[in-house]
Amino acid sequence: MMRSATVSLQPQISSALDVDKIRADFPILNIKVGDKPLIYLDNAASSQMPQTVINRLVKYQTEQHANIHRAVHYLSEVATREYHQARCMLQQFIHAREEREVIFTSGTTDAINLVMHGYGRKFLQAGDEIILTTLEHHSNIVPWQMLAAEKGIKIRVVPINDRGELELDIYKKLFNSHTKFVGLIHVSNALGTINPIKEMIDFAHQHNVPVLIDGAQAALHMVINVQELDCDFYTFSGHKMCGPTGIGILYGKANLLEAMQPFKGGGDMITSVTFEETIYNEIPHKFEAGTPPIAAAIGFGAAIDYLTSIGIDRIGNYESELLDYATELVSAIPGVKIIGTAKHKTAVLSFTVDGIHPHDIGTILNQEGIAVRTGHHCAQPVMQYFSVPATSRASFAFYNKKTEIDALAAGIRTVQKVFQ
Ligand code: ALA
Repeated sequence: MMRSATVSLQPQISSALDVDKIRADFPILNIKVGDKPLIYLDNAASSQMPQTVINRLVKYQTEQHANIHRAVHYLSEVATREYHQARCMLQQFIHAREEREVIFTSGTTDAINLVMHGYGRKFLQAGDEIILTTLEHHSNIVPWQMLAAEKGIKIRVVPINDRGELELDIYKKLFNSHTKFVGLIHVSNALGTINPIKEMIDFAHQHNVPVLIDGAQAALHMVINVQELDCDFYTFSGHKMCGPTGIGILYGKANLLEAMQPFKGGGDMITSVTFEETIYNEIPHKFEAGTPPIAAAIGFGAAIDYLTSIGIDRIGNYESELLDYATELVSAIPGVKIIGTAKHKTAVLSFTVDGIHPHDIGTILNQEGIAVRTGHHCAQPVMQYFSVPATSRASFAFYNKKTEIDALAAGIRTVQKVFQ
């Protein structure tokens, strides 16, 4: 086993964000879409990457690349050390007790599938019940449906109210002696609702039920402390946190990860192999079969370093200001309806415009250089609840400016004029 690398994430302490200075860190924000400057408001789908992370990837590829855990030569040792250091940074970022509780995955979807295969297939059986919520992304629905179909498990769903908030009283009533697992989104990608996960985890634990948190839309916007939350599993993706695609983490409590079966078999996840028997490696390696996305993990570590140097609290506070500003401006436009008005939200603004299909809205906004996501956002149960096929969604990051929100509001008025 490797010794702990010495990593120290240095949080920023002053409060106001210098957004112009931050924007200068992101080369892509300078591009044009046609003759219009890019206004990137699709951060919930994927955030952009600062130069420091790009530089880190280049350094790795130009000076440090080799396979890890496989050789004693110089480059293999360097790559192994840097990959390990990235894990330690993630551990520190989420305040996990031990670095072996952090497993690199290809992203949030991969992590949830890992838990479904590794925990669900081993420990859940016919007649058991899993609680999910209406707000879940498809990635936290479909794997459990696959398991339910295979094993004869029942899925029970926590409903939402008209603001897009979970009905907590009903959540509590769904528990019974058959309840064996809870899958819960921390922040709704479609609406921005921040769920009261601590209360929900505590309630599940009173029934001895483990809880998986999908934190894909949370980890960039609020401090995550898995020990305080006492969640059993927590997952998020690098590309929504200014890091590369193809990388994410699954945090799991060590005792659960140790008890679980591996999801993928192959090299590195074993201690020994004969044709008679394979002995699995210790965690986290048991869950990292094959050559992992080494460069992406190291880039993810660099992104964590960058975000920590700004301060997640400051990021969250600034984005709240953006959300308040955008909500006021956009909801004042006649014919526009905000979908998702929860009391506690991240900077996600989903909306519909009377008589105009979201795809048309997205197309015309694109002509103005404005990037928003349109569609069901991989959250069709949310769309069904609000009886809409799709919404337009602007999602803000700490490098967005109020002038970009002004442009969004003007863009929506242009869309309305085109369709008058
Ligand atoms: N889950 C991502 C989104 O909400 C892709 O856009």
